[in-house]
Amino acid sequence: MLTAYDFPTAKLVDDAGVDVILVGDSLGQEELGYDSTLPVTMEEMLHHVKAVRRGTKRSLLLADLPFLSYQISESEALRNAGRLVQEGGANAVKLEGGSEYAPLVRRLVLAGIPVVGHMGLTPQYQNVLGGMRVAGRSEADAARLRADALALQEAGAFAVVLELVPRMLAAEISRSLVIPTVGIGSGPGCDGQVLVTSDLIGLRIRKTRFRHSRRYADVGEIIVNAVTQYRDDVLSGAFPTIENSID
Ligand code: KIV
Repeated sequence: MLTAYDFPTAKLVDDAGVDVILVGDSLGQEELGYDSTLPVTMEEMLHHVKAVRRGTKRSLLLADLPFLSYQISESEALRNAGRLVQEGGANAVKLEGGSEYAPLVRRLVLAGIPVVGHMGLTPQYQNVLGGMRVAGRSEADAARLRADALALQEAGAFAVVLELVPRMLAAEISRSLVIPTVGIGSGPGCDGQVLVTSDLIGLRIRKTRFRHSRRYADVGEIIVNAVTQYRDDVLSGAFPTIENSID
């Protein structure tokens, strides 16, 4: 699984044969320049899901339910998840949270909306958790995560994202579930893996590099070099030539 927020990236990720394209609410930082996922609205999410839909032919398109789109009431959650599927063309939705959302997951699945759970680091709850807190380090926390994963599976979720869950615990949860887990920073014991594409291709949106990610290319440098060369060529008169012009 990899993220995409726009048509060209979706097309490239789809062409590369990635099973699931996630329009994550990381859209906020990675595409819209916000400093967290919290400002992302349903309208922004829909706009980007539609663009990704147009670039996606074979991958499953998974869309995040943004902050406050599913926390207010089940009816509102159903309406918003339905919009991501009906208007945006998503195949499934993802939501952060554990067993407290099991009744909602059940309701969404009953309505025909496939759901992926998201546990561990849950950035939408950063203000009540006192920051970006890693979950599952204490025994009580680990027990809660185990129970949450089972509750989400029981409610009908078809997969669970485990974000920054200690790897032994993530492997144990993965073995205990029938549905697949998709890890990010949670080790090789998860059934699948997800990364934020801009980290993987080296778009260098932020200065810090995450330990859990791996940079496979330096697209940021390629873009800066290309743009600098273009600028220099225009200033020196090397571009455009007669070949670049119409008669
Ligand atoms: O929003 C996102 O990109 C995500 C991934 C980190 C799994 O939820």
